[in-house]
Amino acid sequence: MSGFISCNSCHNLSTGGVDALPTSIGHHWQEGPINSPTVLNADYMLAQFWDGRAADLKAQAAGPIANPKEMAYTHELAVDTIASMPAYVARFNHVYASDEVNIDRITDAIAAFEKTLVTPNSPFDLYLTGDADAIDAEAKAGYQLFKDKGCVSCHNGPAVGGTMYMKMGLVKPFHTDNPAQGRKDVTGNEADKYVFKVPTLRNIELTYPYFHDGSVWTLEEAVDTMADIQLGQKLSDAEINQMVAFLKTLTGEQPQIVLPILPPSNANTPRPAPF
Ligand code: HEC
Ligand code: HEC
Repeated sequence: MSGFISCNSCHNLSTGGVDALPTSIGHHWQEGPINSPTVLNADYMLAQFWDGRAADLKAQAAGPIANPKEMAYTHELAVDTIASMPAYVARFNHVYASDEVNIDRITDAIAAFEKTLVTPNSPFDLYLTGDADAIDAEAKAGYQLFKDKGCVSCHNGPAVGGTMYMKMGLVKPFHTDNPAQGRKDVTGNEADKYVFKVPTLRNIELTYPYFHDGSVWTLEEAVDTMADIQLGQKLSDAEINQMVAFLKTLTGEQPQIVLPILPPSNANTPRPAPF
């Protein structure tokens, strides 16, 4: 473990809960396998990860800590690190009414924090709840297109996504060098090849680059690609611009987080080994 990479390295809450890289940088500057999805509103997803392999936030949080390509800890080392600092132990005692620090409690605490990472009151929410002027005419036209063209059949629900798995490249194949096979990696079923969780479109303006391989940097190109390979339709430039104007109204109030002052380590704290 480097002692340097945190959840926030790849899910930076200053930048929409992502790292704004095509694929993440892990321990020892390793190239990550896939684009980092946002942690904002992640609790609304039917399951966690692009392929849904973790049932919920608590199960998800156990993954990166021990992943040699991400944080490269072991769960024992994570527990030893937290347990070495009295100030953390006191906080655990306060919440769990016992001094024991274990991975179950660590992931429970992380998940509890992540559940607070919601982004209410986007202009689109205000529009839906009755403020007709909260979004402009171009965005309204884009919303109409989003429904009429069929984007909404996959991107729906409170997070405008995260309610289902769908094939990436339903009508035409998606070309990528990324080896991820989506749900097939979880179920082993050939029919699940390239089936991914439909991502949330909330805060999509902030969470570039797009798609699981992070290959697309602009919303215009993402919308054009989606219409082409998921719906078999060619949108005009004007339609693309309207759709993008709509997508930008999905940016909500970002969580206001005070940078936490962490307890200092001490002689009992495992030393980081960054190099
Ligand atoms: C090195 C970069 C990196 C670090 C560190 C990291 N993550 Fe991630 N995170 C990713 C990537 C990449 C994915 C997508 C992996 C996949 O789908 O296979 C992901 C997926 C997730 C998801 C799923 C979101 C969704 O919509 O499916 C959540 C939640 C999450 N991480 C939270 C965390 C937490 C909590 C930590 C710290 C314990 C953490 N991550 C540490 C890169 C990172
Ligand atoms: C058949 C289901 C389906 C339809 C229809 C669909 N999408 Fe998607 N969309 C997906 C899936 C699945 C992904 C993630 C694919 C991946 O990265 O492998 C995605 C990804 C996206 C992304 C990138 C999200 C991110 O965080 O990287 C955007 C933007 C998007 N869609 C917008 C649209 C728009 C606009 C339309 C209509 C023109 C549309 N989608 C139609 C299933 C669909």
